[in-house]
Amino acid sequence: MRHQGSVAAGAEKRAADRDASADRQSGDAAGDDIARASPAVNAPVNGFGYVAGELCAEGVPLSVLAERYGTPCYVYSRATLVHAFEAFDGAFADVPHLVCYAMKANASLAILDLFAQLGSGFDIVSGGELSRVLAAGGDPAKVVFSGVGKSDLEMEAALASGILCFNVESASELDHLAAVAARIGKVAPISLRVNPDVDPRTHAYIATGRKESKFGVASGDAHALYRRAADMPSIAVRGIDMHIGSQIGELAPHREAALRLLSLADALAADGIALEHIDFGGGLGIRYRDETPVAIDDYARMVRELVRGRRERLLFEPGRRLVGESGILLTRVRIVKPGAARNFAIVDAAMNDLLRPSLYGAWHDVDPVRPRGSGKARFDIVGPICESGDFLAHDRMLALGEGDLLAVRSAGAYGMSMSSNYNARPRACEVLVDGCVAHLIRRRETTADLTAHETRLPRRSNA
Ligand code: LLP
Repeated sequence: MRHQGSVAAGAEKRAADRDASADRQSGDAAGDDIARASPAVNAPVNGFGYVAGELCAEGVPLSVLAERYGTPCYVYSRATLVHAFEAFDGAFADVPHLVCYAMKANASLAILDLFAQLGSGFDIVSGGELSRVLAAGGDPAKVVFSGVGKSDLEMEAALASGILCFNVESASELDHLAAVAARIGKVAPISLRVNPDVDPRTHAYIATGRKESKFGVASGDAHALYRRAADMPSIAVRGIDMHIGSQIGELAPHREAALRLLSLADALAADGIALEHIDFGGGLGIRYRDETPVAIDDYARMVRELVRGRRERLLFEPGRRLVGESGILLTRVRIVKPGAARNFAIVDAAMNDLLRPSLYGAWHDVDPVRPRGSGKARFDIVGPICESGDFLAHDRMLALGEGDLLAVRSAGAYGMSMSSNYNARPRACEVLVDGCVAHLIRRRETTADLTAHETRLPRRSNA
């Protein structure tokens, strides 16, 4: 274990200087051609990989980004994002389909813009997400709106912008939507989100397709509700939808649920309710540790076999699969604290930046940006937040010292989008790397940002 106090202090001061000037940083449309100045890089790597002993994002060494933008910092690879989208979209190239990126995974405008340009639609769950799609230049006619508690205002906004479909999750929501649509003179296109009662065999918090969960309409109730919807003048039945959970590691639950959905679609057709699309939701897992994710081609083959001979357009709502592996969280070791029971590496990122380890016990690989030759010890990688639940990783064998940079891997999905200001910590900046060019796509928050929406109480007159 080596201590590099002076390095850390220098880095911290530079980061503080940068924070002070963060207000002046704006999204740089042209980007910083940052790596050409660096002799360490000659060949850009696809995504993240080591070049000349240093972890790089495409053609840019992560140490260069840390120096330029400070830490903690989310770094994304454009090539990895494009590849993930094209792999998913391309797997269904021969059938009518629409990929609706589940933007809750990462709602950065730059990433939405990139996917929109690739032809993506979007799965949204709030009016806020709708406004982000519109701000990013996304097409509202490719938007599906999921979620169990849409407000009247959110319904109105979605109707006004002309979205493709509401994924309705209860009988009561259908009534609310019909009333809102009637009031503003619109017809609301709908699917019912069906809960097929299938166990996705994933973390309980992100399993959504079992009958115990709050999501969707029970399969047994769906047909009758479709009948009712079909008779509503302000409702247009368009499709059927499901989403059984997230970080699903097997094909079987997807298949089982899809079979239930399709047999319901057939029963509806026999009853004169023809559907235009079938939405299979998202949920395909990625590799965080030693999982073997379902291959997109296997998933596509399974779906295409099930729908052979059908005419409905296929919709998908992948989130994690499109962005998870495209991002890392770059953080610097602030303090090395050896202990009787455990060694702690206290880093400048925390649970407010990446909540997944604290909330789900999720595993993210942690890699040194410049690996040291020797001196590995067992570390807990923790943040500065005042909770023992504030950790990024437990029990990692790493050789590290103060000032070292670490990359928390596969942090592109549900990383920044779940971040908060807990402990009054300004949110991290985000950088998207395209070859040798780095784009600051979201500047680091300042302490002024933290209080920007608040007011103090007026003084009481009798005080
Ligand atoms: N469609 C709907 C209606 C959803 O609720 C979700 C995710 C998706 C699609 C996308 O699922 P994906 O393809 O990303 O698995 N915060 C958790 C994940 C929560 C997922 C919520 N719903 C995590 O960090 O693992």
